[in-house]
Order: sequence, then C-alpha cells, then structure tokens
Amino acid sequence: MLKAVPGTNDVFAQAKEYPFREPVFRYIVQSAEEVLRGAGAQMIHTPIIEYLEVFQKGVGPTSDIVVKKEMFVLEDRGGRLLALRPEPTASIVRAYNEHGMKVWPQPVRLFTWGPIFRGERQQKGRYKQFHQVDYEALGLADPLLDAEAIALMVRIYKTLGLRGLEVKLGSVGDPADRLRYNQYLRGLFEPYAQTLSEDSKTRLETNPMRILDSKSERDQQIIAELQPRPMLEFLGPEARAFHEKVCHYLDRMGVSFSVDPSIVRGLDYYVRTAWEVHHAQIGAKSALGGGGRYDGLSEMLGGPPVPGVGFGIGIERLAIALEQEGVRIPADPGPMLYLAPLDEAAKIEALALAEQLRPKISVEIGYTPKSPRKALEDALKKGARYVGFLGESERAKGVITLKHLESGEQKELEPLQLHSLFEGPEVQ
Ligand code: HAM
Repeated sequence: MLKAVPGTNDVFAQAKEYPFREPVFRYIVQSAEEVLRGAGAQMIHTPIIEYLEVFQKGVGPTSDIVVKKEMFVLEDRGGRLLALRPEPTASIVRAYNEHGMKVWPQPVRLFTWGPIFRGERQQKGRYKQFHQVDYEALGLADPLLDAEAIALMVRIYKTLGLRGLEVKLGSVGDPADRLRYNQYLRGLFEPYAQTLSEDSKTRLETNPMRILDSKSERDQQIIAELQPRPMLEFLGPEARAFHEKVCHYLDRMGVSFSVDPSIVRGLDYYVRTAWEVHHAQIGAKSALGGGGRYDGLSEMLGGPPVPGVGFGIGIERLAIALEQEGVRIPADPGPMLYLAPLDEAAKIEALALAEQLRPKISVEIGYTPKSPRKALEDALKKGARYVGFLGESERAKGVITLKHLESGEQKELEPLQLHSLFEGPEVQ
C-alpha cells in the first residue's frame, strides 16, 4: 500500500496530530486574512511552480535552500528547469513586476497562503511540505512599513489567542555593511576552518554570516568560544538610523519586541530590517515566523528597483504553539439534519428532500438503508442536530419522522411543516 512521502502530511478534520487538522488550518488562515485585509492587503495566488531561476536568484546562492539543495527541481519537456516554491516572496516580487504594479498607488500590499516545499530533514515542526501565510508590502523603502508589518504579524498571533510570543528584531544592514561583517567573521573563523562542519566550511567561503545560524553543535561550540561581535555593531549610519526608526515606531505603537543584535536570516535577499518571532514551545532553534526587508530582490530577478518588506508565518508551527498553550479550535459543527433512508425506495426521496432544504440548512444523507437505531448512532457521530427517518410507513403517511438529538423529542412532520420548521434563523 502506498503511503505519503515522509515529511508531507494529509490535512483533514480528523487528523491525529493537531497541526494537520483542517479546521485549525482554516482558523489560522481566516484570522490572518481578516487582519491583513483590514490593513488594505489583497490576496494573490502565485503558481506553486516557477522557473528555477526565480528562486535561485531570489533566495540567493548562499542560502541554505540553494547550498543544501533543498529545492525540488523538475524539468519541463523543453528541458527548462522548474522548481516547487521554497518560499513565496520571490514569486510575489516577480508577479509585481510582471503585472506592472509599480503604477498602482504604493505601497502595494499583498498576501497569500499555501504550500511551501523544502527538502529538509524531517523532525517535529520541520517538514518537506509545509504551509505559510505570507504578507508583502512593496514599493516603498519606508521604515514605517517595517513597523507596520511587524505589528500586523503580532496581531495575527494575538487574534488567534497565542500569548507567549517573543519578537526578536535586528538588522542585517546594507550590502556594504554585510561585506565588512563577513570580512570580520572570515578572519575570526579562519583558524577554525578544519574544525567547522562541512556546511560551515562552505559558508566560510561564501557567506560567513550563515555560520552563526548553523544547527551543528560543533559549530555552536566554536561560536560560543569565539563570541563574535554582532551584526548590529557593523551597521553603517543609514542602516542604523533606519533600524532606530523601526524601533521607535514599534514603541510608539505599543508593540513589544526585543532587539536581537545577532539576528541572521536564512535567505540572502534581506537588507536592513530582519526579525523572527519565537515561542518557548517551538524551541530556540526554530522560529514561529520571520520576515524582513528585501530592497534588492527585484533587481536580483532582473527587474527594476522595488523596495519591499514582509513576513512568513509557518502554519504548522503556529498550530503546535496554539495546542501547547491550550488554545483549542472547536471542531466543525455537524449537519443540521441527517437524513436516513430506512429502505431502498426512500433513497431518492431523501435526495429530493435534501435538494429542497439545502438552500436553508445543511443536510447530509446516510444513503445505505439501515435500522433507525444504527441511523441514530451515525447521526450522533456526525454531530447532527436532527435526524430524519424515511421508510415505508413514512411514505404511506406522506411524512418524515424527525428527532431532535439533544432533547430526544420525536414527531412526524408533513413536508410543509418541515419547511416552516427550518424557515426561521433561530432553528434550535
Ligand atoms: P522563513 O524564515 O524561511 O522565511 O520561513 C518562515 C516560516 O516558515 C518559519 O519561521 C517557519 O515557521 C516556517 N518554516 C520554514 N521552514 C519550515 C519547515 N521545513 N517546516 C515547517 N515550517 C517551516 C521565509 O520564507 C520568507 N519568505 C519570509 C518573508 C516574507 N520575508 C519577507 N517576506
């Protein structure tokens, strides 16, 4: 029997594990949508496959996604390489340019949600296919937008009822600042080159900053010993002033955060503002969500300069945090009426009746004829409010036997009585 690929999951209402329950997903996405639409963002769905270059150039050659070959790459019939999206930001910037959104009133605020693919080693909260809610504000290089994005992200978490949040805000500076910081780090780590993990040996050549984010214990020991100075100390005057403004605006809005001088993000496109949201239950090594500014990304994709800032929220990790905090999302209500044909002839009657009632109420049909006792059991399992029996005696009298499951009250109703019962908005 074939099974799902490890690291991918079926999302449905009865899923054993909380983060894969469909009502939980829906609750997260709907709450996020409400918050983001409330700030003028519109939904966009970009394709899940793009030309490989969009992501190779987008997330950058020194990101883990590229270095660790985490992208799922396919070839089309013409031999062009495509990839399943390992993140949505590059696609959204591509779409902004492709559809000439630059002439719209700026900033353009877009959001999306859906599956993301990264060939990472599977563990709790880390999957090969996971889901994100993603928000992007494009077209203005104003620190107000960074503060607004952080505030919106926090509001999404709070709307869902999550409490134990920690916003860690830093800055990865401008490209020239990062160049200086990388030179400093290269000098610091060079004598330890042989002791570093294989990945970090490569990082030492390409982007030493990424060593600081290494998951290897050996690397982390070396880092703890060397105590490198943080990125924030290497900011040039412009990036520093920008960072201070973001902090000031957040204070002014009353959004709690802490400055984390050593924040480094896993994607190459970030400039200046970078942040992560952490939660005790998810652990220090993984974030609930993250974001930042990416003013050079459009040019990396061959487009004009388009400043932008945004964030991604991992849906499964958020669901894990909600579960740990005891925020339980109620299961979906069952149907208002569960119609149980008691014999073959009643099946089409049940279907015709359902067709008449469905504009007003939700009706589920049992179809397989069964005893009233078994039908009642099924109706209870479905969480129905009423069960309606249709059998030979009902047919003879032209009625339906209706039972209210909570009170146990049962009566025979003619079609007209049935319709008027479900007419009012306050059906019990
Ligand atoms: P990211 O930090 O790579 O950023 O991912 C955002 C969030 O996705 C993470 O904080 C985490 O919750 C979730 N996530 C990442 N990898 C996995 C995984 N393997 N399994 C489960 N969840 C995962 C981005 O993707 C950027 N595009 C965010 C952004 C938008 N920056 C600017 N705009």
